[in-house]
Amino acid sequence: MKILVGFCSLSGNTKKMAEAIARGVKDEGVTCDLKEVSQITVDELLNYEGLIFGSPTYYGLMTADLKRLFDDSVKHHGKLTGKIGGAFTSSGMMGGGGETTILSIFEALLIHGMIIAGDAKMQHYGPLAVGAPDNEAEKNCMKYGKKIAALTKKIYGT
Ligand SMILES: Cc1cc2nc3c(=O)[nH]c(=O)nc-3n(C[C@H](O)[C@H](O)[C@H](O)COP(=O)(O)O)c2cc1C
Repeated sequence: MKILVGFCSLSGNTKKMAEAIARGVKDEGVTCDLKEVSQITVDELLNYEGLIFGSPTYYGLMTADLKRLFDDSVKHHGKLTGKIGGAFTSSGMMGGGGETTILSIFEALLIHGMIIAGDAKMQHYGPLAVGAPDNEAEKNCMKYGKKIAALTKKIYGT
């Protein structure tokens, strides 16, 4: 069982979140690959049971690089059905469109037929940070990684 944490990050903030999420996944005992989106091929998406994507907030949406990966993933449309998905973002400010960015990633994952979990207690859609993640945001990222890994184990067996 493997989870991919893919991220775009120009100035390193989203990358720090991705690293914390990957630590959480590994803490839960699940193998995790951490990759820049530009290094991910659409074919390798098939190798993972869980796919978590992070992007800086760009005009309230994911980056063009991540969107390009999703557009290219039409090659495997239907084959990602049932995989576990997740999303996270770093924005420049509170209320800067972080949640809509996460939702823009969810839209692509849902259209692929993937399974997405919300959260009743923590950040409801997925981890958000303003700029670089502070201690609390890093903790949220780690918890998120653990949660997605636990869900993946539940659905796919340990
Ligand atoms: C092209 C561009 C668009 C951006 N749009 C927004 C935005 O809509 N809202 C916001 O809060 N921050 C916006 N920002 C700021 C980034 O989301 C923020 O600096 C983020 O922490 C960068 O993450 P990174 O270090 O992973 O690249 C934008 C930055 C760039 C370069």
